Amino acid sequence: MKLDPEIAQNRKADHPIDPLILNRWSPRSMTGETLSDEEIMSLFEAARFAPSSYNGQPWHFLYAKRETAQWPLFFNLMIEFNQSWTKNAALLILVISAKNFAHNNKPSRTHSFDTGAAWMSLALEASSRGLVAHGMEGFDYVRAQKDLEIPDNYQVEAMVAIGKRAPKEKLPQDLQERETPSPRKPVKEFIRMGKFG
Ligand SMILES: Cc1cc2nc3c(=O)[nH]c(=O)nc-3n(C[C@H](O)[C@H](O)[C@H](O)COP(=O)(O)O)c2cc1C
Repeated sequence: MKLDPEIAQNRKADHPIDPLILNRWSPRSMTGETLSDEEIMSLFEAARFAPSSYNGQPWHFLYAKRETAQWPLFFNLMIEFNQSWTKNAALLILVISAKNFAHNNKPSRTHSFDTGAAWMSLALEASSRGLVAHGMEGFDYVRAQKDLEIPDNYQVEAMVAIGKRAPKEKLPQDLQERETPSPRKPVKEFIRMGKFG
């Protein structure tokens, strides 16, 4: 995979990495077009192959396609800010995780960690297909659990908006200014050899 020219202008790795990683970012501008079921299933397929403790695969995805009866149920959970741009998404996903292992029903320490890996796998697949995959925490977690009838032994993790990319001009003015791949702090700020203290 080649580094996207738009990314090359905004992001630089200090140490060599696969362009797949750098190319993924979170645009907000989407066309409003629907996605085929084949494309949608490929995204979930990518999530399927994420690693997890004991291969427990605690991730679950509830989703709604645009122009279906389920869409308002998902859309109405979000804060106004997220609604302002996800109105043009093709798919809204609610990511949840099973708090207990399926094989022994004991609590898992890593259900969120594992589910984070699955979302990243999905996001990388979306990005490699030129699709937007944008994570969100700006929604009502309590209402999501209730309205989507999610049992207590599952944790609501995040939402994800998926869609076909559109030019930034499709966004409201303030969001157009933010429609650019973001930088990162340097590696040395988040690694320590040995103890924390
Ligand atoms: C769990 C999670 C929650 C997020 N919540 C929101 C959100 O509610 N609204 C939003 O516009 N972006 C949201 N973002 C996007 C982040 O702001 C974005 O991923 C971050 O700035 C890094 O940029 P990048 O993904 O383009 O590399 C969220 C991302 C993640 C992973």
